[in-house]
Amino acid sequence: MTDRVNFTVNGQTREAEGDLKRALLFYLRDELALTGSKYGCGQGICGACRVIVNGRAVNSCDTPLWSLEGADVRTVEGLTPNDGLNPVQQALSAENAAQCGYCMSGIVVTVTAELEADPQASTEKLIAALDSNLCRCGAHVRVIRALDRLSH
Ligand code: FES
Repeated sequence: MTDRVNFTVNGQTREAEGDLKRALLFYLRDELALTGSKYGCGQGICGACRVIVNGRAVNSCDTPLWSLEGADVRTVEGLTPNDGLNPVQQALSAENAAQCGYCMSGIVVTVTAELEADPQASTEKLIAALDSNLCRCGAHVRVIRALDRLSH
């Protein structure tokens, strides 16, 4: 196995080297200072670490660097316009969906990926997409109201 891997993060070319069994989450947080992706369970269960890889929302805590050759990685930072919020963030903000906020970047990533794949997604489809994004505060009702604002 080569000890280098090349991919893009939020449009910028990156070369990771060293231990390529490391999870993408730690590379993003520790080497690129992209701390929007959160460490929750570390086991691919909670969705706090979600990023978009080649158009799909994935858990970065169980995505090894070696698997990313040529990949297009986007984090919540890359989904956030310089001058404000994207539509998903606007909807979540309008409904005051965040309580502690720890799960929110993962939710933004998952819903953004789903709407990019299907701009006409229904609320039910968006809820299904969030099946693996856990909110321990129990803010799900407000999140669902935000999804209503986004769905068709
Ligand atoms: Fe990655 Fe929970 S921290 S799924």
